[in-house]
Amino acid sequence: MKAGLLWKLILVRGMLKVEELYASYGKGDVIKGINLEVLGGETVAVLGPNGAGKTTLLKAICGLVKTRGKIFFNGREISKLKTNERIALGIAISPEGRRIFPKMSVRDNLLITGSKKLDEIYEIFPRLKEREDQIAGTLSGGEQQMLSIARALMLKPKLLLLDEPSFGLAPIVIETISDVIRKIKERGVSILMVEQNLSLVADVADRIYVLSGGEIVDSGSVGDVMNNKLRLL
Ligand SMILES: Nc1ncnc2c1ncn2[C@@H]1O[C@H](COP(=O)(O)OP(=O)(O)OP(=O)(O)O)[C@@H](O)[C@H]1O
Ligand SMILES: [Mg+2]
Repeated sequence: MKAGLLWKLILVRGMLKVEELYASYGKGDVIKGINLEVLGGETVAVLGPNGAGKTTLLKAICGLVKTRGKIFFNGREISKLKTNERIALGIAISPEGRRIFPKMSVRDNLLITGSKKLDEIYEIFPRLKEREDQIAGTLSGGEQQMLSIARALMLKPKLLLLDEPSFGLAPIVIETISDVIRKIKERGVSILMVEQNLSLVADVADRIYVLSGGEIVDSGSVGDVMNNKLRLL
């Protein structure tokens, strides 16, 4: 095997590695010593009850909250980097609540990222192409979620963070979101998603972590974690 290829494989293995991570908003830790990994090409889901710290974990990875502990991205420690530096390395987020710009058109919501590569994005989201002139605030909930994911993808991330993509959506629309996530996976993007909808998780996730009270309380394949849950009932 060529040295270059071997090196590439090593790099790809641990795309995201979180070691003994703590996060707080001032008083008390909300994330309490988390260890977590996302390998190259993997889709990993974080499940857990309201207030468990799921959104805080994603914010910590983006540098949007105060942390202690270490975060590595492709072997490089990023724990002290600013958010824009982390984005430049290949991390993008579709945040909780979608955070699109409601008064701007679909196209302008995408172009605001600074990238002009609309065609590649419209391949994954033909619905957004059809509606590119529409004011984003008038899109349906599912379309707004797609726009939020599409905007993150405009940044050409290696790791995409998704915070509850199914939130507030009807089952049929969640299926569309599931198709979109599968298309993103096919393009080799790694995904770390916070999600409470078990059928979406079972559909797309390779592995799961369960977060409760700021700690990882279970992890494994979708099947393993479901079995553990059932045993506790
Ligand atoms: N900006 C903030 N300032 C202070 N405390 C916060 C802030 N954001 C979140 N918290 C607290 O941190 C804890 C974890 O919140 P977080 O939003 O990470 O939970 P979550 O698992 O995403 O919950 P949900 O499922 O409701 O989205 C909660 O107790 C919350 O009240
Ligand atoms: Mg949340």
